[in-house]
Amino acid sequence: MARSRPPRAPRQIGVAMIGQQFMGRAHGNAWGQVAKFFDLPAVPRLVTIAARDAGSLGPFARRWGWERYTTDWRLIAPDPEIDLVDIATPNHVHAEPSIAMLEAGKHVACEKPLAGTLADARAMREAARRAKGKTFVWFNYRRCPAVGTAWRLIREGALGRIYHVRAHYLQSWGGKETPLLWRFRKRLAGSGAHGDLNAHLVDLARFLTGQEVVSVDGAVSKTVITRRTIPGTRRKGRSDVDDATLFLATMAGGAVASFEASRVATGHQNDNTIELNGERGSLRFSFEEMNLLWYFDATLPKRTQGWRRIMCTTPGEHPYAEHWWPEAHLLGYEHGFVNMAADILKVLGRRRPELPIPDFADAYETQRVLEAAMLSARERCAVPLREVR
Ligand SMILES: NC(=O)c1ccc[n+]([C@@H]2O[C@H](COP(=O)([O-])OP(=O)(O)OC[C@H]3O[C@@H](n4cnc5c(N)ncnc54)[C@H](O)[C@@H]3O)[C@@H](O)[C@H]2O)c1
Repeated sequence: MARSRPPRAPRQIGVAMIGQQFMGRAHGNAWGQVAKFFDLPAVPRLVTIAARDAGSLGPFARRWGWERYTTDWRLIAPDPEIDLVDIATPNHVHAEPSIAMLEAGKHVACEKPLAGTLADARAMREAARRAKGKTFVWFNYRRCPAVGTAWRLIREGALGRIYHVRAHYLQSWGGKETPLLWRFRKRLAGSGAHGDLNAHLVDLARFLTGQEVVSVDGAVSKTVITRRTIPGTRRKGRSDVDDATLFLATMAGGAVASFEASRVATGHQNDNTIELNGERGSLRFSFEEMNLLWYFDATLPKRTQGWRRIMCTTPGEHPYAEHWWPEAHLLGYEHGFVNMAADILKVLGRRRPELPIPDFADAYETQRVLEAAMLSARERCAVPLREVR
């Protein structure tokens, strides 16, 4: 008689995270939830949380289930209990910890944009090339089931040749009442709406089309509000990042593309929208209705053509859907992060992720496009990507 063997226990991955605020909460939630919803070859153990605010770190660690906390992220590198370091800090604190952790043999999952500057991003890509550990970048919108569905449809030929990519990411929180946070200081953020929002659009355009941007053909970038209140004071300081950046580009397959990022688009809250128009059809995703994908099938008879609204929540049909709820029991912002944590853990457990995850080399290509657009805006000229290394 055959004896049934108990299932092999999944490997534990010791996680440390740096940063405890917006993304710290989004990622912390993902690490805490992921093993409950996904069957994984590796499961996270929430070992250490690092951030700067000593007063709130202890309560945060207890509430979110981190075993230890520290205000000095450098203590993570030599800790043998940590396998993966998750970096959820402002953009100027991406390169140094990423490189230190890769050199210490850890895997690194870093927030986007890869860095504030192309030089930092390049150093990170080089460190990743030399390292044993794997790298991941939190371009979370890739992991919305509707975006994954678009990715699959495009690979099945639903669009045919892609003619046109139109993307905008519009927010309105950057009005004159918003103080001079790190996000408005070039030294800390690298850029404003551009690195923050266009980074997502460029990643989505590259991911969905499978094509690189070959040239930026024109750009405009403006700081609309130049003076903002310094937090904790009544004084004003200078904001030296863009509040809005728009650019035009050409993709390797010949498609034209437009990208528009703004923090001062009054009336828009988190309007991250991308539309792809091709010879056989079109697709549109808009994050504020993230469960939906819009599909226009141009191969149907004209009589019945029209935009089709697809609810991307059907288990077994749409990526990630079987791990969540029955049809049309909607997913939200946090699910993209949980889906991403699951894919990271699959890769670390030697399984294929549900959808490709960007690593440092991939995110560096996005960073080159952002750099080309900044150059184009500054010099008022077209910039071929081959000139941006
Ligand atoms: N993927 C997304 O959709 C998305 C959304 C928001 C932000 N982000 C990115 O996430 C990163 C963090 O943004 P956020 O909004 O969470 O910022 P935040 O200001 O809300 O939090 C930053 C955290 O970093 C910590 N920190 C700052 N400097 C540090 C240092 N030297 N050592 C240790 N900890 C330090 C702070 O204590 C804080 O906990 C940025 O790169 C941002 O672009 C991504």
